[in-house]
Parts: sequence; structure tokens; C-alpha cells
Amino acid sequence: MTCTIIVGGQWGDEGKGKIVSYLCEKDNPSIIARGGVGPNAGHTVEVGDKKYGIRMVPTGFPNVNAKLAIGAGVLTDPEVLEKELEMLKDFNVAQRIILDSNSGVIELKHREMDKSNVHLSKEIGSTGTGCGPANVDRAMRTLKQAKDVESLQKYLGDVSKEVNTAIENNENVLIEGTQGALLSLFHGSYPYVTSKDTNASSFAADVGVGPTKIDEVIVVFKSYPTRVGEGPFPSEMTEEEAETLGVIEYGTVTGRRRRVGHFDYELAKKVCDLNGATQIALTCLDKYDTECYGMKKYEDLSDKSKEFIKIMEQKLGVKVTLISTGPELSQTIDIRNK
Ligand code: GTP
Ligand code: IMP
Ligand code: MG
Repeated sequence: MTCTIIVGGQWGDEGKGKIVSYLCEKDNPSIIARGGVGPNAGHTVEVGDKKYGIRMVPTGFPNVNAKLAIGAGVLTDPEVLEKELEMLKDFNVAQRIILDSNSGVIELKHREMDKSNVHLSKEIGSTGTGCGPANVDRAMRTLKQAKDVESLQKYLGDVSKEVNTAIENNENVLIEGTQGALLSLFHGSYPYVTSKDTNASSFAADVGVGPTKIDEVIVVFKSYPTRVGEGPFPSEMTEEEAETLGVIEYGTVTGRRRRVGHFDYELAKKVCDLNGATQIALTCLDKYDTECYGMKKYEDLSDKSKEFIKIMEQKLGVKVTLISTGPELSQTIDIRNK
């Protein structure tokens, strides 16, 4: 039984939502705990013919047997959370959610400041969800915690205790990170970053698990990395080139068009180091090579794709164990036990 952390390896939107949902279905963890900044994240999960865009609830929600936890380090927007609980009521999410009592609370004033402050909204290109200003108040020790909010009382719990108990009982635990390693306040392209570190050690801290309890760190890379908002993007291509390649994406939270680039091995190596990566999940291989769309077996991949994966493993020194060839959960090649 393993405790696994999932990390975004670029600037977010790598398709972590799909990888986490896949692992939740396949490995049946007893608890899925979310780390990361807060509702600035936007994940897309496709279940059957329905598509869910979510920002607060862990993306493993389609597995109805698992507990769903939001760690103390994460910021909660009560309005966003309530909307998602309503949207996901067929999955019994409200009955399974455990919100850490110490989670920080985003209020209207934080969202307003995030949108009106020119430095944040224009120069950095923040998501406008109030996360940066709320983390300022958190550092000032003036921010409200979930335990101070009446409407959140029914969801409160001790996430660290829940997760550590599951580990002691030899159950599978999944810790879901958000954003991406290159948006880290410490290790990213400051000031064009988010308001916290966004690497594996921080996600463990967010949910209250010590580093010695982590067995696997899966870094998720997208075949063509994307970035929303401002900031350096060394391998960025022109909009025209991205269009020619058929890579046109829009942000889940802000609806902004995502900038697109070529795979950057140098940055990817740095990210593997920052996270102590033990495995790589490669998503959107079908965008790199459309022939691979929907494939479920490694043997069926084209030589072009196999070569791409081989070079990645050589340059990064980490095995590619999960390959995503389309947005649906079934469109996954799982070679973890090879
Ligand atoms: P962040 O927390 O913002 O990083 O979210 P995320 O990593 O979950 O990614 P997001 O859902 O924002 O964007 C990924 C998009 O790609 C979604 O629309 C997914 O359905 C889709 N997707 C995921 N994997 C694949 C894949 O292998 N191929 C294709 N074509 N689409 C994919
Ligand atoms: P903030 O986190 O809203 O302050 O935004 C700071 C920067 O991080 C901006 O460039 C955002 O676009 C980016 N960002 C924050 N969260 C995400 C995410 O989940 N996916 C992609 N970009 C993000
Ligand atoms: Mg996203």
C-alpha cells in the first residue's frame, strides 16, 4: 500500500485532474487529500459523457468509496465549495468531504483586491480568485480559518490525523497537488508565480504528512506545456505555430487562452529534482502525435511517440509510467508494473 503525491510539472493545467481520477479508479485509495494554494486551481474531470470543472473538491471524487479531504495549508472559498458540493451531489461529495479546521478562508475583500490591484491582476496576471491577498492575511495572522465560519462547521475535521491513520492502517493514500512546480513562489520565475510553493514537499505539509511517509511522487508533464498569465516561457511557440499543431487551449478558471510551448527538458529535469520524482505521467501524447489518440497499449504507439518517451526518460532519469492519449479515463496506458 502506498502514499503517493501527484505534482504538476510545468505551469499547471498538465491534466492532473484526469491522472488523479484515473489513479483513484484504478488504485482505490481510501482517502484523497488535496494540497496546493486554493480555488485558483481549475481541473477538468470527464466522467462518462459529462465534463466537470472543479476548483476546491479533490478530483478523485468519481470514486465514491473514498474520503475526500482538503488540507490545512489550502485556502477555501466557502461559496466555491458550496457550489461544487451542489454540482457533485450525485457523487455524495458533501457526505465525504473533510475540510481541515485550520484551512484558511477567502472572503469577498480578498477577491476584490485580487481583481482591482493592478500589480496582481495586470502585471502578474493572477486568477482573481483572492488567493494572493488571502495568503497575505494568513502571513499577517489576521485570516479567518474554516473553524471560524458557521456554514463550514458540518464539513470540519483533522485532515492530518485522517491521512496518517490511513497510512498506519496500510491503506492507499493519494495526495493531490495543484498548480505546477514552475509556478512556485520559491522555485518559479518570481514574481510571475503563485502565492505559495507548489512542489511535493509543500503538498505533504499542506495535508500534514511527514516526508518519510511518502512512497511515490508522480510528476505530470504535458507533451506541449502551456502557461496562462504573464511570465517567462523559454520554449514558447507563436500562436500561429500552436494553431498549426492544433494545440488551442483555454483556462478552466479564467477562460484565458493558454500560451503553448515545446517540451523543455532542462526545466523538466529541474522539476524532477525539486520533487524527488519517482515516476512521470505524460499527458496529451495525442497532441504530440495525433496517431496515438485513444491508444491503450504501449506496443501500439508510433515510433515517433516511443522515441519522445525514450529521450525523456534518458534526459530526466525517471521512468514514464503513465501515458495519457485522450481526456477520458480509459484513454490511458499504465505501465507502472513493467
Ligand atoms: P491544474 O490544477 O490547473 O493544473 O489543472 P489540470 O492539471 O487538472 O488540467 P486542466 O483540467 O486545467 O486542463 C487539462 C485539459 O486537458 C482538460 O480539458 C482535460 O480533459 C484534457 N486532457 C487531459 N489529459 C488529456 C490527454 O491526454 N489528451 C487530451 N487531448 N486532453 C487531455
Ligand atoms: P494567482 O495564483 O491567482 O495569484 O496567480 C498567479 C499566477 O499563477 C498567474 O499567472 C496564474 O495564471 C497562475 N496560476 C495560478 N493557479 C493556476 C492553475 O491552477 N493553473 C494555471 N495557472 C495558475
Ligand atoms: Mg487547470
